[in-house]
Order: sequence, then C-alpha cells, then structure tokens
Amino acid sequence: MAILVTGGAGYIGSHTVVELQNAGYDVVVMDNLSNANEKVLARVEAITGKKVPFYKADIRNRQELEEIFTKEKIDSVIHFAGLKAVGESVEKPWEYYDNNITGTLTLVDVMRKHNCKNIIFSSSATVYGNPAFIPITEECPKGQCTNPYGWTKSMLEQVLTDIQFADKEWNVVLLRYFNPIGAHKSGTIGENPNGIPNNLMPYITQVAVGRLPKLNVFGNDYDTHDGTGVRDYIHVVDLANGHVKALKKLEPGSGLSIYNLGTGVGYSVLDIVKNFEEANGIKIPYEIQPRRAGDIATCYSSADKAEKELGWKAAYGIREMCEDSWRWQSQNPNGYED
Ligand code: NAD
Ligand code: UFG
Repeated sequence: MAILVTGGAGYIGSHTVVELQNAGYDVVVMDNLSNANEKVLARVEAITGKKVPFYKADIRNRQELEEIFTKEKIDSVIHFAGLKAVGESVEKPWEYYDNNITGTLTLVDVMRKHNCKNIIFSSSATVYGNPAFIPITEECPKGQCTNPYGWTKSMLEQVLTDIQFADKEWNVVLLRYFNPIGAHKSGTIGENPNGIPNNLMPYITQVAVGRLPKLNVFGNDYDTHDGTGVRDYIHVVDLANGHVKALKKLEPGSGLSIYNLGTGVGYSVLDIVKNFEEANGIKIPYEIQPRRAGDIATCYSSADKAEKELGWKAAYGIREMCEDSWRWQSQNPNGYED
C-alpha cells in the first residue's frame, strides 16, 4: 500500500517524500506543477535512491484522481496541494477558494469512493488569527483570518472535522505548521518561490545571492524585544519528519487529531538576519519599512502535544536552518532553473 502525496513536487512535499522513502514507505506523488518544477523529483530520487512514481494531475480534476486511485493502491493521503501566496489570495479570492476548497472536496470525495479514508492535511498557524495567547497550544481558539488563503485553511479544517464526525471510518490529522525554512542538507532541493519572495527567509537568501539589493524589514514598532515581528521558524526536514510521525495517527479508530508543528521558540526578523549573517559570514543590508498589512506581532507554538503524542520534536536549531537555506540558494541561485 502506498501514500499519495498531493503537491509532492512542492517545497514541503518534496522534503516529506524524501523522509517517507527513507523511512521505508511507498510513495506516489501527484502535482499539477502550478508552483513546482518537475526536476525536483529526479533530485529526490538521487537523494533516496528510490523511484518516485509521479502523476501530473490536478486535485480539481475528478477523472485524473480516479485514474490514480484505480491504478495505485493508496491507503493514505498527505495533502499538501494548494495555493499559498497570502497577497495573491487577496487579489484572486475565487481562484484560491476554487483551488484549495473545490480541490480538497473533490479529492476527499474520490478518496471515499475508493474507501481510502486516511488523510493528513497541511494547515497553518494562520488559523489562530491574532492568537488569544502565546505560546499557542492546540486549545487556543481559532481566530479571524486576514486573507482568503488563511480562510481556506480554516474552512478546510472544519470540512475535514465534519466529515470525520459523520463517518468514523475516517482518520484525519490536521497539522498546523508554523514558519518552515531551511532545506535538505544536500542543498539539492529547497524553496523556490516564483517572482519576488513574500516570505522572510527566501527574501534574505536572494539578497545574499545578489538577486535583490536589500531586505525590507516590515515594522520595528511591535511589542517585541527589538520591535520586529517574532515567528516560530522550523526546519523543513523537521516538518517533513513530523508527517512521518503523524502517520501513526491514521491507524484505525484514531479519529481526528490536531497538532502544531513548530519549535516552541520565537525569533524576530532582526534575530534571523543576525543568525543568517553569523552562520554564513554574509552581510544582509536591510531597511526598516512600515508594517505589512495583516501581520501580527508575535506567533510561536507550544510544541508539547506533538512531542507527547507523536514522539516528535524539532531537532534542528536556527543556525542549521540558516546554513541549509543558504546552501540550497548558493548552489542553485536560480532555483531549479540552474
Ligand atoms: P508549494 O507551493 O511549494 O507546494 C504546493 C504544491 O501544490 C505545489 O507543488 C503546487 O504545484 C501544487 N498544487 C497547487 N494546486 C494544485 C492543484 N490544484 N492540484 C495539484 N497540485 C497543486 O507550497 P509549500 O510551502 O510546500 O506548502 C505545502 C502546503 O503547506 C500548502 O497547502 C500550504 O498552504 C501549506 N502551508 C505552507 C506554509 C509555508 O510557509 N510554506 C505554512 C503553512 C501551511
Ligand atoms: N518580513 C519582513 N520582510 C520580508 C518578509 C517578511 O520583515 O520581506 C517579516 C514579516 O513582517 C514577519 C516575518 O518576517 O514579521 C515573517 O514573515 P513571513 O512572510 O516569512 O511569514 P508569516 O509569518 O507572515 O506567514 C507565514 C506564511 C503563512 C502562514 C504563516 C504561519 O506565509 O502562509 O507563516 O504558518 F500561514
């Protein structure tokens, strides 16, 4: 039996395929390549020494999904496929609701027709909105999202919760990721954003590699130790391993499980700049700019529940996250185009 990884050619998906194969699982990848390059799959194969069966397919396309579930023996799905650019989701809400919500509804419908009722869903700390308390535990109430992307995650959590409530044969794991950065140690796979990066670490690495002149720091007047925004950065390989551990919550009768995947430690924007500079010996010029709309001051997790129930704990610290992000970017200045 195999695990279907939707969005498996993307940033987190490709790292998870590596860890799944290393742990001995059979994996099938599907991706419509809307935000990925097929070359990543050959690189994953080079790391693991195993073939990655791949379908270029869209989660909104019932026929394409039917083909996969008919040809392959899938017993669980790790569902990464989705659009994730916060700003773009404000400009194109219909496209985000269609891709993420219609796509997931179609996927889940095809799954149940094939009696595959095990799913791990990529959710986000964004569902907590402006968190009611810090560190954020899984009991923290969900909040108001500030953009359609965030709402798709919040709504899909509800959809999957209701489906599992109605049919107890479903086992559902909602994983709320904090801020994934870093890359595989080989430096051959990593984050490869289209256009100018929205997120902090890819922006920093593109400044470091000379593609961008300086970092814009969005606000230095937050109520944090240095005034800049604080986040819980997590190494993408740790995040990937969190999925491997979460598979045990797909055992029959597990029901619905929710876990934060974070480190439990918060770093400010300027902490990240300083750590990146020290880890890699590269100066990152920056300029303070006004706050970015929709940002919150502080967001970091309590990672205790995942440790207690899954036996999972982040292993990598901020230095390795900075080193590995840079190894990927410096070896691949133009991402997979090199
Ligand atoms: P990514 O864009 O690198 O990966 C998503 C993959 O899904 C891409 O390869 C894309 O081509 C594919 N995809 C998109 N729509 C599809 C569709 N309709 N059919 C088939 N494939 C489709 O993003 P990522 O950073 O790897 O994120 C993976 C998941 O984790 C996403 O659901 C994202 O929302 C979620 N997430 C990411 C972060 C983060 O900061 N990266 C944080 C929280 C949650
Ligand atoms: N920042 C800058 N300059 C930049 C980019 C970011 O100063 O060029 C700052 C932001 O203001 C924030 C911090 O760096 O304080 C982190 O910003 P990111 O855009 O990297 O990450 P966010 O925490 O805003 O959001 C990310 C994902 C969301 C996800 C969330 C929680 O983009 O999709 O983490 O997991 F929901």
